[in-house]
Order: sequence, then C-alpha cells, then structure tokens
Amino acid sequence: MHMTETARRMWKKLTWTWSPGSEKEAGDAVVKNMLLHWFPNKVSISSMSWSYSMWLGTVSFVLFLILCGTGLVLMFLYVPSVERAYSSVKDIEFVVSFGWLLRSMHRISAHLMVASVFLHMVRVFLTGAYKNGTAAGANRPLNWIVGLTLLVLTLLLSFTGYLLPWDQLAYWAITVGTNIARSAPVVGEWMRFVLLGGTTIDQGTLIRFYVLHVFFLPVIVLFLFAYHMWRVRKDGGLAVVDKEDLNRTAVPADPVKSKTYSLLGITNGTSVHVQTKVVEDESTTVTSSPHLLRRILLVSLLTFAVVVLLSVVFPAPLEAPANPSVTPNPAKAPWYFLWLQEIVTVTTVTIGSFTINGALIGGILLPGALLALAVWWPYRDKSGPGSVGVWLSPERKRQNMVFIVICVVILLFTVVGTFLRGPYWNLYWPWESWPDMPVKF
Ligand code: HEM
Repeated sequence: MHMTETARRMWKKLTWTWSPGSEKEAGDAVVKNMLLHWFPNKVSISSMSWSYSMWLGTVSFVLFLILCGTGLVLMFLYVPSVERAYSSVKDIEFVVSFGWLLRSMHRISAHLMVASVFLHMVRVFLTGAYKNGTAAGANRPLNWIVGLTLLVLTLLLSFTGYLLPWDQLAYWAITVGTNIARSAPVVGEWMRFVLLGGTTIDQGTLIRFYVLHVFFLPVIVLFLFAYHMWRVRKDGGLAVVDKEDLNRTAVPADPVKSKTYSLLGITNGTSVHVQTKVVEDESTTVTSSPHLLRRILLVSLLTFAVVVLLSVVFPAPLEAPANPSVTPNPAKAPWYFLWLQEIVTVTTVTIGSFTINGALIGGILLPGALLALAVWWPYRDKSGPGSVGVWLSPERKRQNMVFIVICVVILLFTVVGTFLRGPYWNLYWPWESWPDMPVKF
C-alpha cells in the first residue's frame, strides 16, 4: 500500500510540473491546451449535418491516416535504392502476402486524398466558410491559408511518392514535372537542381524524394492539421454555427440562484449569466461524446470501405523498370498536374524558328497567380455576415461564379490531359487507337 502511494507520487513528480487544484483550474487547463482542446465539450447539431460540410475534411484526414498506416508497413518492404527499388516493389506486388492490396490501398488513398482535399476547399469557398463570424479572436482567413498550405503539401506528398516504384511511369512523370520547375526565370535551373539533388533523376533524387515522402512532409501535415483543427475551434466552430447564431435572438434569462466562484466559492450568491446566443444552447447542441465521435467513426469506416473496394477494382500499376533512354510518347505528369501540362502546351507558340515556351506561363506564373489570388481572396471578400456558412449565398453570387469557372476549367484541362492526349500530345478520342510509335533510343 505504502509502495503504491510512493510510486504514484514518483510518477506524478516525473510527469507533472503542475496539477489542477480545483475544477475550474482543470477546466482552464483543457481550454488553454492545444491538444486537449481538440474536441469541444458540446457541438452544434447543424455543424454535424451531411449536407453542410459533406465531411470532406474528415474524409481527407482519414485518408491521411490510412496512408500513414499502409505506408509504415510498406517501409519494411521497400528499398530506396536505384538498383533495388523496382524489384522491392515487384516483390511487394507479387511475393508478399496481400502486398498488392497494401500497395493498391496506399496508391488509391493518395489519389483520393488529392481529390477530397480539393473538394473540401471547393466546399469551404462555396459556403463562404473562410469568413469570420461573431466569435472573439476568430481568424478564418488564416485557417483558409493554413488549408491552402495543406493542399500544396498534399500535392507534394503525392508527387514525391510517385517516383518511388522507379518504373517508367514514375521516372517520366517526375521528369515532366521537374522540367516545369526549370522554366522559372533566374532560379529555375537552381530549383530543379535542389529538387533532384543533381542534374539528372538518379539515386540523389530517389533518396531525397523518399525522405521527404516518409518523414518530413507527413510530419508537417500532421502538425499543420492539428493547428487547422485548433483554429476551427477558436474561430467559433464551423461557419454554419455563425449562420444559426445570426438567425437567433437573445432570450433574456432570469438570474439563477446558484453557487458562484466569487470569494473563492465560499459564499452563495447569484452567478454571472451572460446572455449568450451561441453554442451552449441546449436545443441546438449535443455532447461531442458520443454524438460527434460516433459520426467520425462512421465516416472513417465508410472511407476505409471505399478505399478497400477501389483498391481491389483498380490495382496499382507497375510498368517496366525506369529507363532514361526510352522516352514514352506521350510522357505525362501525374494526373493532378496534367491541367498545367495542358496549359504549357496551349501557351507554347512557335512562330517560324522562334518558340515561346509555355512552361513559364503554365508551370510557374499561372499556378503562382492562382495561389496568390486564393490567399488574397478572403481579405477582398466584403460580403455581409449573412453569407457566412451558407451554401451559394446570393450575396456572393459573382464570387462563386468566378470560382466555379476557374474550377471547371482546371477540371476540363485535367480530363483532356488524362484521357484525350496521345503521342506527340495530339488529341485522340478514347475509342480511337493510337498509331504505332517507333521506340526512340
Ligand atoms: C490535408 C488537408 C486538409 C484536412 C485534413 C482538412 C481537415 C478539415 C476538417 C476535418 C475540417 C472540419 C470540417 C469538415 O470536415 O469539413 C476542416 C475545416 C476547414 N478547412 Fe480544412 N482540411 C484540409 C485542407 C483544407 C484546405 C485546402 C482548405 C482551403 C483552402 C481548408 C480550409 C478549411 C476551413 C476554412 C475550415 C472551416 C470550415 C467551416 O467553418 O465551415 N482546409 N478542415
């Protein structure tokens, strides 16, 4: 008995520098700590609705977790060396029990994550959820920028993973992708050199992409995601709560005789009642546990099921080993960069012997300008509080139209690049066969 008490004290000494002396102090500790404060005590019913957020942010994070889980197992089997990478992936595919499923799940989740993060951004824009509501200290524009960073990181995660199988698909997609970086004025060559760890895609590139892929990028995404969620709480919850708040009028409540914390809680008196319109309202909120947790579990299971199903239907491809002297025709970037490759083609103009290279416009200037526009947008959006947390608010009609047009153009170009481009980047319908191409050495 004495021993356990001593052990308990020792443990407390080792693990605590301070422990709460009262319930209020304990509550304050939860509120002030970033990790403990991840889940609110109560959550508004409207923010859990399927039709508002479509749960795309949660789906994105669940996909990220599936990627971490499958990726950790793949790390035991994959060898990041130019000589052995391809054969280790081949072993995963054909020798390891269920290796093909593991690899397929990892790949499908990566594709789906790019798509779901993009769709999550579209949802946030079309609901005006980057705008502040009534919460003190809200900074949703900042969370929008955090989100944009997460989107770029998601693309980089996928891009760095693309090279690892070291097959023809991997090698040439990264060749096309990194050649675009080269076209940046002044720093282009240097940027490509840093990215590749040399002038060609070789062992230096493979190890660089590998370390970024399995360590740096996932860790940054994890920390940034935690911050993203903390901000959602500090911004007053999802923006739809602000819409609800706006529609409600404050009901003056009679002061209730209850304990008060004044005079260190020794006296009884009238506690201070703030006439709040928001969150703690009994009729519009439920406790996070179990309601929110149950919903998160359901979304996680559904996402997992879809990933498994798609992994079985669409197994991960593995082409011939990478061969720098055999250029496939066409050589395509990863699908989420094909809209840029398409714009590079469209903006490359040849007049006589003079060629204007579209890589600068399509690869650097345009994506840079779009990103800058996205960062700036919440600060130029002057629509009123009625358009916060509302799908397609009439007040934001013009803005939504511009955004939708940009998204549709990106999607159209992606579809053209993915399905309609054949040898020499000529257009072919999906049912048309491509001409036999001489293999160039
Ligand atoms: C790895 C990528 C991302 C993850 C895992 C993620 C996760 C989440 C989650 C779980 C939520 C809660 C609501 C929901 O499920 O929709 C949320 C909200 C939010 N996200 Fe993201 N997000 C990511 C990327 C982005 C991007 C690309 C943007 C925008 C550019 C963004 C902006 C926001 C904003 C502004 C909110 C608050 C929405 C509201 O109040 O209705 N996030 N995010």
